[in-house]
Amino acid sequence: MELINRIKQNARSVKKRIVLPEGTEPRTLRAADEAIADNLASVILIGNKAVIEKMAADEGLANISKAQIVDPVDNPKREHYIDMMVEIRKSKGLTREEAAKLILDPLYLSVMMIKNGDADGEVAGAANSTGDVLRPAFQFVKTAPGISVVSGAFIMIHPDKSFGEDGIMVFADCAVHPDPDENQLAEIAVATARTTRSIVGIEPRVAMLSFSTKGSASHPMVDKVVNATRIAREMAPDLKIDGELQVDAALIEAIGRSKAPGSEIAGKANVLVFPDLQSGNIAYKLTQRLGKAEAVGPVLQGMAAPINDLSRGCSVSDIVSLIAITATQSQEK
Ligand code: ACO
Repeated sequence: MELINRIKQNARSVKKRIVLPEGTEPRTLRAADEAIADNLASVILIGNKAVIEKMAADEGLANISKAQIVDPVDNPKREHYIDMMVEIRKSKGLTREEAAKLILDPLYLSVMMIKNGDADGEVAGAANSTGDVLRPAFQFVKTAPGISVVSGAFIMIHPDKSFGEDGIMVFADCAVHPDPDENQLAEIAVATARTTRSIVGIEPRVAMLSFSTKGSASHPMVDKVVNATRIAREMAPDLKIDGELQVDAALIEAIGRSKAPGSEIAGKANVLVFPDLQSGNIAYKLTQRLGKAEAVGPVLQGMAAPINDLSRGCSVSDIVSLIAITATQSQEK
């Protein structure tokens, strides 16, 4: 909670414009009201103005009157956005007719607002799948310079303070890329270290996880992690990173000492990079459900602008926290 409060404090000081495409989704509207009341961001809601205003009045959400409301059907910048879309996707053969349909979709409208400098970041996903939130972002906002793969990190806040940094760990990729190759896995490690520094404010100690520790097993899946560790070191020579490590060797001092003697990460890791999305997604949910950790995210990393995806089971407070995180990422840009 202390961490989230710190992130919120930062969001208040930077006051970014965050667009919420699901403007008529009840939890999103409530979160928008809270975010405005708490001064976390200038909120932009996508949707029909009359519908949003009626919902806000029915729910007693007085702060919604301070949000900017953008209607996809009646939007003065529509033609300009369509021109931009056709230009950006000309190599893919996107026609004006196709773009004119896409811009009516709040998820496409939001990314075009970001692309045009009309918003600084986006939070969506309370009512849409991860794929539907990410596809417009991949197509029009694209990855940050020098990055080829977007991934999703979770900030895990565990009640047992002996893990990670006072119980705080960052896990990735838990949300986006199903099966990264060794180069992509290295990029994910470097991006996660950056997220750890910029959002969590701690110095990352990165463990590249496998079912093997330092050659205890040999398999092409292990080779991928060994190679990714080497590539990540080349990409970021100052980064504290080690692999391949089993998760017990990464987290527990005594096991780290015995399985990976001399490693500066084993037993002390605060960033866990998983070899693929199956293991990353399962691990964060197990840590959350069985380990009773709080899971904040996914924080998407590697995109040219901060766009974050919620789980459809999210709470109002999850949305408010992600608005603050998105504002903080936007400051980093
Ligand atoms: N990073 C950057 N760009 C990407 C990535 C990525 N990770 N993945 C796809 N793209 C780009 C492609 O290069 C392509 O660009 P182009 O159109 O300019 O050529 C575009 O996005 C579409 O690519 P597709 O391969 O067609 O993407 P698709 O839409 O099929 O899949 C998606 C992308 C939706 C993210 C897919 O990888 C996916 O479903 N991932 C799993 C998401 C998920 O279900 N996560 C678990 C739940 S989340 C949770 O539990 C919190």
